[in-house]
Amino acid sequence: MLNKIKETAAFLKGRVSGTMPTTAIILGTGLGSLVDYIEDKQYIPYTEIPNFPVSTVEGHSGNLIFGVLGGKRVIAMQGRFHYYEGYDMKQVTFPVRVFKALGVDTLFVSNAAGGMNKNFRVGDVMIITDHINLFPENPLRGKNYNELGPRFPAMTEAYDHKLVAKADEIANELGIRVVHGVYVGTPGPTFETPAEYEYFRIIGGDAVGMSTVPEVIVARHGDMRVFGVSVITDLGGKDVTEVPTHEEVQLAAEKAQPNVVAIMRELVKRS
Ligand code: HPA
Repeated sequence: MLNKIKETAAFLKGRVSGTMPTTAIILGTGLGSLVDYIEDKQYIPYTEIPNFPVSTVEGHSGNLIFGVLGGKRVIAMQGRFHYYEGYDMKQVTFPVRVFKALGVDTLFVSNAAGGMNKNFRVGDVMIITDHINLFPENPLRGKNYNELGPRFPAMTEAYDHKLVAKADEIANELGIRVVHGVYVGTPGPTFETPAEYEYFRIIGGDAVGMSTVPEVIVARHGDMRVFGVSVITDLGGKDVTEVPTHEEVQLAAEKAQPNVVAIMRELVKRS
């Protein structure tokens, strides 16, 4: 694994001009149009990057984008790798390993999620304050490489408290309603049964989705600061009869996108 990470990092260093960024952004659902604000973009399709898996999901194209956002050099992942697509946890999190090898120390992530918290509304922007890992596997399972991080990393502050506070400040300045919550990461690809939404709420979850947790675990293993947001695209619970669809999720995320993008742009600038 170490050789692959090194090989991919060396390829990117050779391919991209300018200094390497210390900020990386995973453009999940709801954050795609952040790309429009990145200047001096250099696109590198995943298909050209050695050791990178290739994204297959509708609505997710696959490129690494190097550029400048809010005066900061950034790497953006346009399209992420989901566990439900069939990738293993090492593949899902490989880009985060490469970011670390390039010198990245702060990771921004976004996703679409179903809300269980009864105070949430569709279109809400949820700042992730913590997560519950319900994937069947942990990306750190197997041999630990001390060069990458400790065998038993703490997850006490998986989501950086200072970045959460800054994001709150920014949302307040911009007049954007944000909520806080615990993200439950599940393998998917099924949406939840009403009983499952209820179960996730009872164990302490506020929203549920099919991504983010693996990448965040690996980022924390590498001691990166992490900030994440979920766009609440549907609501679930034992009394909810509406059926979530991929299209509905995309549409709700699309609507919330300007808010997510505005917060992220400013937070990257101030981070
Ligand atoms: N469940 C799981 N993943 C999701 C959901 C959901 O309700 N909405 C968007 N991603």
